[in-house]
Amino acid sequence: MRRISLVAGAVVAGLLLAACGGGGGGGTETKKVEVFTWWTEGGEKAGLDGLVSTFKKQYPKYKFVNAAVAGGAGSNAKNVLASRLQSGQPPSSFQAHAGGELADYIKAGQLQDLSSLYKSQGWDQKFPEGVVKALTYQGKIYSVPANIHRANVVWANPSVLKKANITKPADSISAWIKDLAKLKKAGVKTPLSVATDWTQVQLLETVLIADLGPDGYSGLWDGKTDWNGSDVTKALNDYKTLLSYTNTDRSGLDWPDAVKYVTDGKAAYNVMGDWTAGALKEQGLSQDKDWIWMPVPGTDGIFDFLADSFTLPVGAPNEAGAKAWLKTVGSAEGQKAFNTKKGSIPVRTDATASDYDAYQQQAIKDFGSDTVVPSLAHGAAVSIGWLTDITSAVGEFGNSKDVAKLQKALASAADSHK
Ligand code: GAL
Repeated sequence: MRRISLVAGAVVAGLLLAACGGGGGGGTETKKVEVFTWWTEGGEKAGLDGLVSTFKKQYPKYKFVNAAVAGGAGSNAKNVLASRLQSGQPPSSFQAHAGGELADYIKAGQLQDLSSLYKSQGWDQKFPEGVVKALTYQGKIYSVPANIHRANVVWANPSVLKKANITKPADSISAWIKDLAKLKKAGVKTPLSVATDWTQVQLLETVLIADLGPDGYSGLWDGKTDWNGSDVTKALNDYKTLLSYTNTDRSGLDWPDAVKYVTDGKAAYNVMGDWTAGALKEQGLSQDKDWIWMPVPGTDGIFDFLADSFTLPVGAPNEAGAKAWLKTVGSAEGQKAFNTKKGSIPVRTDATASDYDAYQQQAIKDFGSDTVVPSLAHGAAVSIGWLTDITSAVGEFGNSKDVAKLQKALASAADSHK
């Protein structure tokens, strides 16, 4: 009840602000388009810059205002955004993940319906049905997808693998654990690198996919798979074993630091989404020579999906400018400028695959043929509240290493958010 009235209050405050011209008033103010993301460095920033330069070209009368808040996966940005929305001070547009995360904002009455913009831009014909479905609530479409990312990817250093004579990718978590043991024996101190809590959640989600299979994993989110089951216990034990091969300084690191472990030759593997491809490109590193990739062992043929999208908040300052931004995001030119740098693949089905790097060309193919499952760590599978509970249980597990306790916490998180 309290939450509902707070949200309603924020919406009213936002409308009042807009009506009084707060941020959206006359003169130069109306030209500003404030866009909120968490893309501040490396390939992420390069991608955003690409989108911004397309926006400037397509809509020169508007001024892009960058409201990015640093921190991988929106770990800081989402809190800042929540308080801005609650106090009725939304940006012109903000980044949100397709799926459960977006649904939260919609259900809270914080977003405007974009169905007519879709019609006018012909996007219903250009974007894959499954993606549009993850942006739709009660028949209305609420955001514009910028990309498609894959979360179940291992990035590896070929020279480090050589030290343990590892020549082919493992095809299951248990085979992978054997390779990690070989690396340790060959003197590699950190066979697998990981960073702060949300990256551990991402690692765990890929182990759940590998061990439960796509249906078992998807069932965790719609209640069909029992969180207390023995197959989940096995996956959590596998996760515990993987964690024992990781760096102990993980809690102080963000994802680029964990990738750096691999590129510096200090670790063999890191599990991270394919924004890593954008980061590696930005550093001038080349596929095959400096890095290789494989699906997380046991998840070949499965595409752990997430998509970044942009919204039109209720009470958005400069609504016309915000819509212009959204048009750039959905345009062929905008998607190319963004995704060629970001490591993701374009959402538009009329994109030209040869504009993209080898890794991305493969991802385009895989997205078309793999079984698609929703990413947990990146807002596709569950609501923000459910993910927050899972993240604190997983973070806690990093200290306790108590599998029974973790399983109980995950099961009770599922119960309270279903
Ligand atoms: C994800 C986001 C990606 C990338 C990543 C690391 O949540 O969807 O675009 O930014 O976080 O920050």
